Amino acid sequence: KKDLIFLGIETSCDETSASVVKSGKYVLSNIIYSQIEIHKKYGGVVPEIASRHHIETIGEVVTKALDDAECNLDDIDGIAVTYGPGLVGALLVGLSYGKALAYARDLPFVGVNHIEGHISANYIGEGFEPPFICLVASGGHCHLVYVKDYGEYEVLGRTVDDAAGEAFDKVARALGLGYPGGPEIDRLSKEGNPDAYVFPKSFMENGNFDFSFSGIKTAVLNQLNKNRMKGIEINIADFAASFQKNVVEVLTYKLIEAAKVKNINKISIAGGVASNSLLRSMLKEKAEKENILLHYPEAVFCTDNGAMIASAGYFDFMRGKRSDLNLNAVPYLKI
Ligand code: KG4
Ligand code: ZN
Repeated sequence: KKDLIFLGIETSCDETSASVVKSGKYVLSNIIYSQIEIHKKYGGVVPEIASRHHIETIGEVVTKALDDAECNLDDIDGIAVTYGPGLVGALLVGLSYGKALAYARDLPFVGVNHIEGHISANYIGEGFEPPFICLVASGGHCHLVYVKDYGEYEVLGRTVDDAAGEAFDKVARALGLGYPGGPEIDRLSKEGNPDAYVFPKSFMENGNFDFSFSGIKTAVLNQLNKNRMKGIEINIADFAASFQKNVVEVLTYKLIEAAKVKNINKISIAGGVASNSLLRSMLKEKAEKENILLHYPEAVFCTDNGAMIASAGYFDFMRGKRSDLNLNAVPYLKI
């Protein structure tokens, strides 16, 4: 049968999401229940609270995904679920739910790597086809990946400390902004001067595709303290804009550089940070200048969602991947 329909389930962090996707590309429904409001008051995701909310919500989210797609389980050809990386208790909820459905309905079951899921968001819709270089930048990950083919990756670089989104979240917290910090900094930066402060950039030597964001985070905190001690008024928009420009310049430079080194003229971005407006505009400008084709997923497919998992599961399945029903959650799963 062509046009296989996959149900994708994602519960690795604080979004309970389920989605029905046809042929790995056409999103028939995408339900995302975000717990952000619940975790906001703690300034970050509390793992046990996340697991408890997933278990209360997962049934409703899956039912709604099927309803919105105007289908039922009889129309589903396979179940794809994130099994790592992520919070173990959170992962286990989606994984157990997906396995139970697969077992009850005797459907193929595919465990999906969450980072591969983010990359696969690029296949949704009009789509993008490998080979391309993908920057995956989210709250938990920062990877530069050469996507040679569906499911075939070469990791060119990764963060040695904080993930890019994590840096946004930590700096935002220091500036007194809410959680998650990325969207807040993105918004506030539009009112600030990006050249107010110059912070250091790490690992900018040629051919190094690793990232480090703890240096800039510390530099921002030190500058904030300095201003406070000297009684200099703190313009948080200037801080936000200067920090954002620094990080986005590093991400943009390395992504374009990797494309040149690998001689690949297609690039893409994925993960929560991929919805950053400066990253999108700066990349667009630089890619055009270098004659490189840039693709980015719609914002809703950049942050965690079930559609990207259904898409990854579909392409895994087409390459022959099937997972066992005793598949465990793997919190530190690598790509
Ligand atoms: O992919 P995602 O939803 O979850 C993880 O797998 O981590 O990414 C969430 C991260 C958070 O750190 C959030 O601050 C960041 O993505 N983020 C952004 C923006 N929107 C979300 N960072 C910068 N600019 C944004 N507009
Ligand atoms: Zn994610």
